[in-house]
Amino acid sequence: MDVTITAERDLTPQQEREIMELQQAAFPKTESFVHQRWHNTPLSDDEPWFTIRRDGRLIAGVRLVPRRVSIGEKELDIGGIANVCSHPDVRGAGAGKAVMQAVREYLQTEDRFDFGLLFCNPEHRGFYAALGCVDIDNELVHEHPDGTPARRKPGGGAMICSGRMSLDDWPAGEVNLNGPTW
Ligand SMILES: CC(C)(COP(=O)(O)OP(=O)(O)OC[C@H]1O[C@@H](n2cnc3c(N)ncnc32)[C@H](O)[C@@H]1OP(=O)(O)O)[C@@H](O)C(=O)NCCC(=O)NCCS
Repeated sequence: MDVTITAERDLTPQQEREIMELQQAAFPKTESFVHQRWHNTPLSDDEPWFTIRRDGRLIAGVRLVPRRVSIGEKELDIGGIANVCSHPDVRGAGAGKAVMQAVREYLQTEDRFDFGLLFCNPEHRGFYAALGCVDIDNELVHEHPDGTPARRKPGGGAMICSGRMSLDDWPAGEVNLNGPTW
């Protein structure tokens, strides 16, 4: 399946609408997606969207959120893997895997992000593990959208995949997202 990568600033109004409609179908309980394409972290011009079309129709998508994240004493460039979805009509046909494989390849070949980082529910852990993502057990702090501090317990569904750096180089220590989750 062909995956298209488009920077946020280059999306046409029609593409923006199609992504929002795909996300509404894929995440029917996420209220943010009723009126916008982001959850917790607002959009930025240079962030990439990964999309797949079949017969002209958008069937899968991922948003990659750029964020400078503090981990222990280190500062890393993280690609926040967000809004991973395929349309309910095409589940099980390989679209989710194909779009995530393109994200993995982008992280490893573009000289931009040290790691990819995502948050998932237990039921999707296996999907990401099969794609080479691994659990992390760091303490993790972030901000609520209103700026108040929040803490996520170790083992709270955070997973990473390699970018410029390999999985063995993931630092120990508290992760500070320096902003909201995605
Ligand atoms: C998660 C999601 C993207 C998977 O998409 P999909 O198009 O059904 O996935 P694919 O058909 O590409 O499946 C790829 C592989 O993952 C497996 N898989 C799919 N969903 C899985 C799950 N929840 N747990 C474990 N494995 C899963 C498939 O069996 C398949 O395995 P195979 O390669 O051995 O055949 C899709 O179910 C979705 O959009 N869900 C709703 C939105 C959501 O919750 N996204 C996750 C946010 S963290």
